[in-house]
Amino acid sequence: MNVAIFSARPYLHEFFEKANLWRHHELTYLESRLCEETAPVAAGFRAVCIFVNDIADRRVLTMLRGGGTELLALRCAGYNNVDILAAADLGLPVVRVPGYSPHAVAEHTVGLMLALNRKIHRAYQRVREGNFSLTGLMGYDMAGRTVGVIGTGRIGAIVARILHGFGCRLLLYDPRPDDALEAIGDYTSLEELFSESDIITLHCPLTPETHYLIDSEAIRRMKPNTMLINTSRGALVDTRAVTAALKSGRIGYLGLDVYEEEAGLFYADLSDEMIHDDVFARLLTFPNVIITSHQSFFTEEAMTQIAETTLASISAFEEGVPLAYEVTPAMVAP
Ligand code: NAI
Repeated sequence: MNVAIFSARPYLHEFFEKANLWRHHELTYLESRLCEETAPVAAGFRAVCIFVNDIADRRVLTMLRGGGTELLALRCAGYNNVDILAAADLGLPVVRVPGYSPHAVAEHTVGLMLALNRKIHRAYQRVREGNFSLTGLMGYDMAGRTVGVIGTGRIGAIVARILHGFGCRLLLYDPRPDDALEAIGDYTSLEELFSESDIITLHCPLTPETHYLIDSEAIRRMKPNTMLINTSRGALVDTRAVTAALKSGRIGYLGLDVYEEEAGLFYADLSDEMIHDDVFARLLTFPNVIITSHQSFFTEEAMTQIAETTLASISAFEEGVPLAYEVTPAMVAP
C-alpha cells in the first residue's frame, strides 16, 4: 500500500524501513507538516501517516478523502489534533499507537524533575565556564516530598512507581483509578492534589474537559514554589497564567516537553531565526524553567514500537483485518 508520511525527519526513516522490510509498503517521506496547504500532496496515497503537530481538521480530512486516502495512521498516542467525528463522517478510519514505551515518557518526566530540583542545567553551564560556586544551586531531597500525579494511565502509573522508589508521598487523580496503585499512593480530589503537592505532573489526555486544567484558579490553590511538569499535551496548561505564577513565585519550577503553540516551533531548527512567539520567548528567560522539544517519547524502543504498530495497522487495513487501534467517535464523545 502506498503511504505518505508527513513530518518525517531523517531519524524516522531507519525505523520505518526496518519495520517495512517484510511488509513491502511503498513509503514516501515528506518533511512538511500536514495542513491545508500541504494536503494536496497526499492525493493518490491510500494511507497517510501523521504525528503530533500535523493538522487533521475537517477541511484537511475532506481534502485527503477527496484525494483517495482511505486510512489515517497516527504514529502517536494522543489524537487531539484530529477531528475524529469528521473522519467518521467521511468514512476515513483513524488508527493510532496507544502504548509505545510509556517508560520513555515517564523517565523523561522524572529527568525533568531531577534536573529542575538540582539545577543540573545551570550547574552544567557554570562548570564549563570555570564557575564552581554552589550559590543558587541548592535543591531538596525528593524522598518525603509530595508529588501529585494527574492521569494514572500507562505513563502516569510508571511515573508514580519510579517516584515511590524515591520515597515520595504520592497523591493521584484520575476519573478511572487504577486499583494497583492504591498500594503506593492515595487517590484524592484535584483540589487536595493542588494544595498539598510539592510537585505536580500531568499525564492525562487533552480533551475539552482537560483544556487549561492548569489555569490561574488551579495555580491559586497550589503551594508557593510548586514544581509543575507537563510532558503530556501543551494546552493542558494556560501558559500565560503559568508565566505570571513564575514571576510571583507561586510556581517555583517549570518543566515542559510540550507547549500549547508548539506546532510552529518544535522539531524545526530555528537557531538562525528570531522566535516570534513572545509568550514562549518569555518562558526561556526564567532560570527555573526547562523546556524540551516534545522529545519524551524519543527512545530507540519507542521508535521501534511506533514504526511496528503503525505499519501493522496499515497491513491489517489492507488485508481487511479488524483494526486493533482504531480511534472511534465513542472515544471523543463528551
Ligand atoms: P493512557 O490513556 O494510558 O492514560 C491517560 C489517563 O488519563 C487515563 O487513566 C485516563 O483515565 C486519565 N484521564 C482522562 N481524563 C482525565 C482527567 N480529566 N483528569 C485526570 N486524568 C484523566 O495514556 P498514556 O499512554 O499514559 O498517555 C498520557 C498522555 O501522554 C497522552 O494523552 C499524550 O497526550 C501524552 N504523551 C506524550 C508524549 C510525549 O512525547 N511528550 C508521548 C506519549 C504520550
